[in-house]
Amino acid sequence: MKKIYILICLALPLILAGCTDAADGETGAAGQDDTAVPVEKDKEVSETLDHPPDPDSLLSPDRILNIAHRGASGHAPEHTIESYEKGQKLGGDYIEIDLQMTKDGELIAMHDPDVSRTTDGEGDVSELTMDDIHILDAGEWFNEENPDLAEPAFSQAQIPTLSDIFEEFGKDAKYYIETKNPDESPGMVKELVSVLEKYDMLDEDMKEGQIIIQSFSEASLKEMQELEPTLPLIQLISYEEQAEITAEELEKITEYAVGIGANYKYITEDYVQQVRDAGLLFHPYTVNEKKDMKRMIEWGATGMFTNYPDRLEEVLKETEK
Ligand code: G3P
Ligand code: CA
Repeated sequence: MKKIYILICLALPLILAGCTDAADGETGAAGQDDTAVPVEKDKEVSETLDHPPDPDSLLSPDRILNIAHRGASGHAPEHTIESYEKGQKLGGDYIEIDLQMTKDGELIAMHDPDVSRTTDGEGDVSELTMDDIHILDAGEWFNEENPDLAEPAFSQAQIPTLSDIFEEFGKDAKYYIETKNPDESPGMVKELVSVLEKYDMLDEDMKEGQIIIQSFSEASLKEMQELEPTLPLIQLISYEEQAEITAEELEKITEYAVGIGANYKYITEDYVQQVRDAGLLFHPYTVNEKKDMKRMIEWGATGMFTNYPDRLEEVLKETEK
């Protein structure tokens, strides 16, 4: 009996050590997502576009794109030709355009589904025709709300169609176009391709990345991929709490998109690294303060949407990006 007791005393620490190892192992596994598919590291963005990486590409992960959000909308009424012109003048690389579709099937630049916030009219864009849209003033509200920034030209500003924008800025400009509410506007993606074709925006002389298509709607992006596989796509994601993304989600997005655009306030450095490690670009929105711009750049953003392209231009000069 005494021998058995001594044997148990000698063996017990070994048994306990084994149990502790096993418990650590379980804790480690439980701390990770054990169904996660490892993300391929350092995948080049251009692989998604099915051709070799081009270091001069606008989609190079070494660039930081200055995306004038609704134009330079911190200085001029959003989504007007005046706002886009200021965006170009103040250092914006891209004109960011939100698309809504009118009752008669025209694509216009407007963020909200109804016209009341940014014009002197009322009603849903989808219930208004171009005749209704043309008579609206899209700039007076800005002059009234921002007397220090008001300009006489703003009060005459009209809502531009996508065609108006292409006619004004042509094939030298860069466009970052969002399909808004595509589910409620069937035919939006087809109409977008048709306008792009009409203005020769899909021709071979266009630079890679000169037109970028963005959407919160995965279905809309996939429809675009079907219709025009050469166009780079950005999956927009809106977070309402600290941003997290799984390896599966990243894997899925890399199948059709070259990058992710997300609201910057809930982003962490780890999140940005995960996105970049998956070979995706990362474009946070809407970053208006220089300290936030600097932080996003430090964390690995490859561009950002801003109402103040002039501020981002200054930050990029300071950081020599
Ligand atoms: O398109 C990026 C960003 O603009 C998305 O937010 O609501 O301003 O279109 P929103
Ligand atoms: Ca947008």
